Amino acid sequence: MLRKLILAALAGLVAVCAARAQSYPTRPITMVVPFAAGGPTDTVARILGERMGRSLGQTIVIENTTGAAGSIAVGRVARAAPDGYMLSIGHWSTHVINGAIYPLNYDLLKDLDPVALLPANPQLIVTKKDVPATNLKELVAWVQANQDKISGGTAGAGSASHVGGVYFQNFTKTKFTFVPYRGSGPAMLDLVAGTIDIMCDQSTNSLPQVRANAVKAFAVTAPKRLASAPDIPTVDEAGLPGFYISVWHGLWVPHGTPREIVAKLTAAAQDALADPAVQKRLGELGQEIPPREMQTPEGLGAFQKAEIEKWWPIIKAAGIKAE
Ligand code: MLT
Repeated sequence: MLRKLILAALAGLVAVCAARAQSYPTRPITMVVPFAAGGPTDTVARILGERMGRSLGQTIVIENTTGAAGSIAVGRVARAAPDGYMLSIGHWSTHVINGAIYPLNYDLLKDLDPVALLPANPQLIVTKKDVPATNLKELVAWVQANQDKISGGTAGAGSASHVGGVYFQNFTKTKFTFVPYRGSGPAMLDLVAGTIDIMCDQSTNSLPQVRANAVKAFAVTAPKRLASAPDIPTVDEAGLPGFYISVWHGLWVPHGTPREIVAKLTAAAQDALADPAVQKRLGELGQEIPPREMQTPEGLGAFQKAEIEKWWPIIKAAGIKAE
Protein backbone atom coordinates (compact mmCIF):
# COMPACT_ATOMS: atom_id res chain seq x y z
CA MET A 1 0.00 0.00 0.00
CA LEU A 2 2.74 2.41 1.09
CA ARG A 3 4.72 1.50 -2.04
CA LYS A 4 1.69 2.28 -4.23
CA LEU A 5 1.23 5.67 -2.53
CA ILE A 6 4.92 6.57 -3.00
CA LEU A 7 4.80 5.56 -6.67
CA ALA A 8 1.63 7.60 -7.23
CA ALA A 9 3.20 10.64 -5.52
CA LEU A 10 6.33 10.27 -7.65
CA ALA A 11 4.27 9.95 -10.82
CA GLY A 12 2.38 13.12 -9.82
CA LEU A 13 5.65 14.97 -9.24
CA VAL A 14 7.04 13.88 -12.61
CA ALA A 15 3.82 15.05 -14.32
CA VAL A 16 4.02 18.47 -12.59
CA CYS A 17 7.70 18.87 -13.58
CA ALA A 18 6.97 17.85 -17.19
CA ALA A 19 4.08 20.32 -17.39
CA ARG A 20 6.30 23.08 -15.97
CA ALA A 21 9.08 22.31 -18.44
CA GLN A 22 6.58 22.30 -21.30
CA SER A 23 5.11 25.71 -20.47
CA TYR A 24 8.53 27.23 -19.62
CA PRO A 25 9.14 30.14 -19.54
CA THR A 26 6.07 31.76 -18.01
CA ARG A 27 7.85 34.73 -16.41
CA PRO A 28 11.02 36.82 -16.94
CA ILE A 29 14.38 35.05 -16.67
CA THR A 30 17.39 36.51 -14.85
CA MET A 31 20.82 36.31 -16.45
CA VAL A 32 23.51 36.98 -13.83
CA VAL A 33 26.53 38.85 -15.22
CA PRO A 34 29.56 38.36 -12.95
CA PHE A 35 31.16 41.79 -13.60
CA ALA A 36 30.18 45.45 -13.67
CA ALA A 37 27.71 46.92 -16.13
CA GLY A 38 29.22 48.42 -19.26
CA GLY A 39 32.08 45.88 -19.45
CA PRO A 40 32.62 43.12 -22.01
CA THR A 41 30.67 40.30 -20.32
CA ASP A 42 27.78 42.68 -19.72
CA THR A 43 27.86 43.74 -23.38
CA VAL A 44 27.78 40.14 -24.66
CA ALA A 45 25.01 39.28 -22.16
CA ARG A 46 22.85 42.21 -23.22
CA ILE A 47 23.23 41.51 -26.96
CA LEU A 48 22.44 37.80 -26.58
CA GLY A 49 19.91 38.16 -23.75
CA GLU A 50 17.72 40.53 -25.73
CA ARG A 51 17.65 38.19 -28.75
CA MET A 52 17.21 35.02 -26.67
CA GLY A 53 14.29 36.63 -24.87
CA ARG A 54 12.57 37.16 -28.23
CA SER A 55 12.88 33.44 -29.05
CA LEU A 56 11.67 32.42 -25.61
CA GLY A 57 8.78 34.88 -25.51
CA GLN A 58 9.95 36.31 -22.18
CA THR A 59 12.27 39.12 -21.15
CA ILE A 60 15.76 38.19 -20.01
CA VAL A 61 16.68 40.58 -17.22
CA ILE A 62 20.41 41.25 -16.78
CA GLU A 63 21.65 41.47 -13.20
CA ASN A 64 25.26 42.44 -12.42
CA THR A 65 26.60 40.71 -9.30
CA THR A 66 30.19 41.82 -8.90
CA GLY A 67 33.16 40.92 -6.71
CA ALA A 68 35.93 38.32 -6.39
CA ALA A 69 36.45 38.12 -10.18
CA GLY A 70 32.93 36.85 -10.76
CA SER A 71 33.02 34.01 -8.23
CA ILE A 72 30.24 35.54 -6.08
CA ALA A 73 27.88 35.76 -9.07
CA VAL A 74 28.56 32.21 -10.23
CA GLY A 75 27.96 30.93 -6.66
CA ARG A 76 24.64 32.74 -6.61
CA VAL A 77 23.44 30.81 -9.66
CA ALA A 78 24.97 27.50 -8.48
CA ARG A 79 22.74 27.72 -5.37
CA ALA A 80 19.59 28.92 -7.19
CA ALA A 81 16.51 26.75 -7.86
CA PRO A 82 17.07 24.50 -10.92
CA ASP A 83 14.00 25.85 -12.71
CA GLY A 84 15.52 27.75 -15.66
CA TYR A 85 14.76 31.20 -14.26
CA MET A 86 18.34 32.05 -13.25
CA LEU A 87 21.18 31.73 -15.76
CA SER A 88 24.93 32.15 -15.34
CA ILE A 89 26.73 33.84 -18.20
CA GLY A 90 30.48 33.85 -17.78
CA HIS A 91 33.73 33.05 -19.44
CA TRP A 92 37.16 31.45 -19.38
CA SER A 93 38.13 33.12 -16.13
CA THR A 94 34.86 32.83 -14.16
CA HIS A 95 34.14 29.20 -15.10
CA VAL A 96 37.71 27.86 -15.41
CA ILE A 97 40.43 30.03 -13.84
CA ASN A 98 38.51 30.88 -10.64
CA GLY A 99 38.42 27.18 -9.72
CA ALA A 100 42.23 27.14 -9.61
CA ILE A 101 42.65 30.15 -7.33
CA TYR A 102 39.53 30.69 -5.17
CA PRO A 103 38.31 28.39 -2.38
CA LEU A 104 34.89 28.21 -4.06
CA ASN A 105 31.97 26.89 -2.03
CA TYR A 106 30.53 25.32 -5.19
CA ASP A 107 31.90 23.01 -7.86
CA LEU A 108 32.16 24.55 -11.33
CA LEU A 109 31.41 21.23 -13.04
CA LYS A 110 29.05 19.52 -10.59
CA ASP A 111 26.85 22.41 -9.41
CA LEU A 112 26.18 23.96 -12.82
CA ASP A 113 24.93 22.38 -16.05
CA PRO A 114 26.18 23.70 -19.42
CA VAL A 115 23.72 25.21 -21.91
CA ALA A 116 25.82 26.50 -24.84
CA LEU A 117 29.29 27.70 -25.77
CA LEU A 118 29.09 31.38 -26.74
CA PRO A 119 31.50 33.64 -28.68
CA ALA A 120 35.15 34.25 -27.85
CA ASN A 121 37.26 37.37 -28.12
CA PRO A 122 40.98 37.96 -27.73
CA GLN A 123 42.49 40.70 -25.60
CA LEU A 124 44.16 43.89 -26.76
CA ILE A 125 47.25 45.29 -25.08
CA VAL A 126 46.08 48.87 -24.52
CA THR A 127 47.43 51.92 -22.72
CA LYS A 128 46.33 55.39 -21.80
CA LYS A 129 46.67 57.78 -24.70
CA ASP A 130 49.71 59.77 -23.62
CA VAL A 131 52.09 56.81 -23.27
CA PRO A 132 54.97 57.82 -25.59
CA ALA A 133 55.50 54.37 -27.20
CA THR A 134 54.37 53.96 -30.82
CA ASN A 135 54.68 50.18 -31.09
CA LEU A 136 54.78 47.14 -28.80
CA LYS A 137 58.58 46.96 -28.59
CA GLU A 138 58.73 50.60 -27.51
CA LEU A 139 55.91 49.95 -25.04
CA VAL A 140 57.81 47.06 -23.45
CA ALA A 141 60.92 49.28 -23.17
CA TRP A 142 58.81 52.05 -21.59
CA VAL A 143 57.26 49.63 -19.08
CA GLN A 144 60.71 48.21 -18.24
CA ALA A 145 62.06 51.72 -17.63
CA ASN A 146 59.08 52.92 -15.54
CA GLN A 147 57.74 49.82 -13.81
CA ASP A 148 57.75 51.27 -10.29
CA LYS A 149 55.40 54.07 -11.48
CA ILE A 150 53.08 52.03 -13.73
CA SER A 151 49.65 50.69 -12.76
CA GLY A 152 47.61 48.12 -14.67
CA GLY A 153 43.83 47.79 -14.43
CA THR A 154 42.18 44.41 -13.78
CA ALA A 155 38.72 43.06 -13.00
CA GLY A 156 40.05 41.40 -9.83
CA ALA A 157 42.49 38.62 -9.00
CA GLY A 158 42.07 35.79 -11.48
CA SER A 159 39.95 37.77 -13.95
CA ALA A 160 40.86 37.55 -17.63
CA SER A 161 42.41 41.03 -17.50
CA HIS A 162 44.49 40.04 -14.46
CA VAL A 163 45.72 36.79 -16.02
CA GLY A 164 46.54 38.76 -19.19
CA GLY A 165 48.46 41.31 -17.11
CA VAL A 166 50.44 38.62 -15.30
CA TYR A 167 51.24 37.01 -18.66
CA PHE A 168 52.41 40.38 -19.97
CA GLN A 169 54.68 40.77 -16.94
CA ASN A 170 56.07 37.25 -17.36
CA PHE A 171 56.66 37.70 -21.09
CA THR A 172 58.34 41.10 -20.66
CA LYS A 173 60.09 40.35 -17.33
CA THR A 174 58.45 43.38 -15.70
CA LYS A 175 56.47 44.04 -12.52
CA PHE A 176 53.97 46.83 -12.10
CA THR A 177 51.12 47.43 -9.66
CA PHE A 178 47.72 45.93 -10.42
CA VAL A 179 44.63 47.95 -9.55
CA PRO A 180 41.53 45.75 -9.15
CA TYR A 181 38.08 46.96 -10.26
CA ARG A 182 34.65 45.31 -10.25
CA GLY A 183 34.96 44.78 -13.96
CA SER A 184 37.02 45.95 -16.88
CA GLY A 185 34.25 48.45 -17.79
CA PRO A 186 35.11 50.74 -14.85
CA ALA A 187 38.84 49.99 -15.32
CA MET A 188 38.58 51.22 -18.92
CA LEU A 189 37.03 54.50 -17.73
CA ASP A 190 40.16 55.08 -15.64
CA LEU A 191 42.44 54.14 -18.54
CA VAL A 192 40.67 56.72 -20.71
CA ALA A 193 40.99 59.26 -17.88
CA GLY A 194 44.69 58.40 -17.62
CA THR A 195 44.64 57.45 -13.93
CA ILE A 196 45.93 53.97 -14.79
CA ASP A 197 48.46 53.17 -17.53
CA ILE A 198 47.93 49.78 -19.10
CA MET A 199 45.48 46.90 -19.51
CA CYS A 200 45.26 43.55 -21.23
CA ASP A 201 41.61 43.85 -21.99
CA GLN A 202 39.03 42.02 -24.06
CA SER A 203 38.59 43.53 -27.54
CA THR A 204 34.87 43.96 -26.84
CA ASN A 205 35.66 46.48 -24.12
CA SER A 206 38.65 48.17 -25.75
CA LEU A 207 37.72 48.50 -29.42
CA PRO A 208 35.10 51.27 -28.99
CA GLN A 209 37.71 53.35 -27.09
CA VAL A 210 40.46 52.54 -29.62
CA ARG A 211 38.12 53.66 -32.42
CA ALA A 212 37.32 56.86 -30.49
CA ASN A 213 41.08 57.46 -30.20
CA ALA A 214 40.70 57.54 -26.40
CA VAL A 215 43.28 54.78 -25.72
CA LYS A 216 46.19 53.25 -27.67
CA ALA A 217 46.16 49.62 -28.88
CA PHE A 218 49.49 47.84 -29.42
CA ALA A 219 48.62 44.23 -30.24
CA VAL A 220 45.91 41.59 -30.30
CA THR A 221 46.57 38.41 -28.26
CA ALA A 222 45.73 36.04 -31.11
CA PRO A 223 47.56 34.39 -34.00
CA LYS A 224 45.49 36.38 -36.53
CA ARG A 225 44.36 40.00 -36.76
CA LEU A 226 40.74 40.92 -36.01
CA ALA A 227 38.63 41.34 -39.15
CA SER A 228 36.96 44.36 -37.55
CA ALA A 229 40.27 46.00 -36.53
CA PRO A 230 42.79 44.96 -39.18
CA ASP A 231 45.24 47.77 -38.31
CA ILE A 232 46.12 46.27 -34.91
CA PRO A 233 49.03 43.82 -35.28
CA THR A 234 49.07 40.40 -33.66
CA VAL A 235 51.39 39.74 -30.73
CA ASP A 236 53.49 37.59 -33.09
CA GLU A 237 53.92 40.47 -35.51
CA ALA A 238 54.43 43.08 -32.80
CA GLY A 239 57.13 41.29 -30.78
CA LEU A 240 55.57 39.01 -28.11
CA PRO A 241 55.24 35.76 -30.09
CA GLY A 242 52.88 33.19 -28.64
CA PHE A 243 51.20 35.53 -26.12
CA TYR A 244 47.71 34.23 -26.95
CA ILE A 245 44.63 34.68 -24.77
CA SER A 246 41.12 33.85 -25.96
CA VAL A 247 38.25 34.69 -23.64
CA TRP A 248 35.40 32.37 -24.62
CA HIS A 249 31.95 32.74 -23.10
CA GLY A 250 29.36 30.23 -22.01
CA LEU A 251 25.91 29.88 -20.49
CA TRP A 252 25.08 27.62 -17.53
CA VAL A 253 22.08 26.79 -15.31
CA PRO A 254 21.95 25.31 -11.79
CA HIS A 255 22.60 21.57 -11.78
CA GLY A 256 19.45 19.49 -12.08
CA THR A 257 17.55 21.90 -14.36
CA PRO A 258 15.12 19.75 -16.45
CA ARG A 259 16.55 18.71 -19.82
CA GLU A 260 13.54 20.16 -21.70
CA ILE A 261 14.25 23.58 -20.20
CA VAL A 262 17.97 23.39 -21.01
CA ALA A 263 17.02 22.43 -24.59
CA LYS A 264 14.81 25.53 -24.90
CA LEU A 265 17.63 27.76 -23.63
CA THR A 266 20.15 26.12 -25.98
CA ALA A 267 17.80 26.65 -28.94
CA ALA A 268 17.34 30.32 -27.96
CA ALA A 269 21.13 30.81 -27.74
CA GLN A 270 21.55 29.16 -31.15
CA ASP A 271 18.82 31.40 -32.64
CA ALA A 272 20.62 34.45 -31.27
CA LEU A 273 24.00 33.38 -32.63
CA ALA A 274 22.49 32.66 -36.07
CA ASP A 275 20.86 36.11 -36.28
CA PRO A 276 22.77 38.29 -38.80
CA ALA A 277 22.14 41.46 -36.72
CA VAL A 278 23.65 39.79 -33.63
CA GLN A 279 26.55 38.42 -35.69
CA LYS A 280 27.28 41.92 -37.02
CA ARG A 281 27.29 43.52 -33.56
CA LEU A 282 29.47 40.80 -32.06
CA GLY A 283 31.84 40.84 -35.06
CA GLU A 284 32.40 44.59 -34.70
CA LEU A 285 33.52 43.91 -31.11
CA GLY A 286 36.00 41.21 -32.13
CA GLN A 287 33.83 38.29 -30.99
CA GLU A 288 34.07 35.05 -32.95
CA ILE A 289 31.03 32.74 -32.97
CA PRO A 290 31.76 29.05 -32.28
CA PRO A 291 30.54 26.38 -34.74
CA ARG A 292 26.90 25.39 -34.16
CA GLU A 293 27.77 21.93 -32.83
CA MET A 294 29.67 23.65 -30.01
CA GLN A 295 26.66 25.83 -29.14
CA THR A 296 25.28 22.88 -27.15
CA PRO A 297 25.45 21.50 -23.57
CA GLU A 298 27.79 18.73 -24.80
CA GLY A 299 30.00 21.20 -26.70
CA LEU A 300 30.37 23.57 -23.76
CA GLY A 301 30.70 20.76 -21.17
CA ALA A 302 33.56 19.03 -23.01
CA PHE A 303 35.32 22.30 -23.81
CA GLN A 304 35.09 23.59 -20.23
CA LYS A 305 36.57 20.31 -18.89
CA ALA A 306 39.41 20.45 -21.42
CA GLU A 307 40.13 24.08 -20.50
CA ILE A 308 40.21 23.20 -16.77
CA GLU A 309 42.72 20.43 -17.48
CA LYS A 310 44.83 22.76 -19.60
CA TRP A 311 44.75 25.94 -17.51
CA TRP A 312 44.68 24.92 -13.82
CA PRO A 313 48.29 23.65 -13.87
CA ILE A 314 49.43 26.77 -15.79
CA ILE A 315 47.66 29.16 -13.39
CA LYS A 316 48.97 27.33 -10.32
CA ALA A 317 52.52 27.28 -11.73
CA ALA A 318 52.28 31.03 -12.53
CA GLY A 319 51.47 31.60 -8.84
CA ILE A 320 48.27 33.56 -9.58
CA LYS A 321 46.36 33.78 -6.31
CA ALA A 322 43.21 35.36 -4.88
CA GLU A 323 44.48 38.45 -3.04
C1 MLT B 1 34.29 42.15 -17.45
O1 MLT B 1 33.20 41.93 -17.95
O2 MLT B 1 34.50 43.12 -16.71
C2 MLT B 1 35.44 41.26 -17.81
O3 MLT B 1 35.00 40.08 -18.40
C3 MLT B 1 36.41 41.10 -16.75
C4 MLT B 1 37.67 40.35 -17.09
O4 MLT B 1 38.65 40.94 -17.53
O5 MLT B 1 37.70 39.14 -16.83
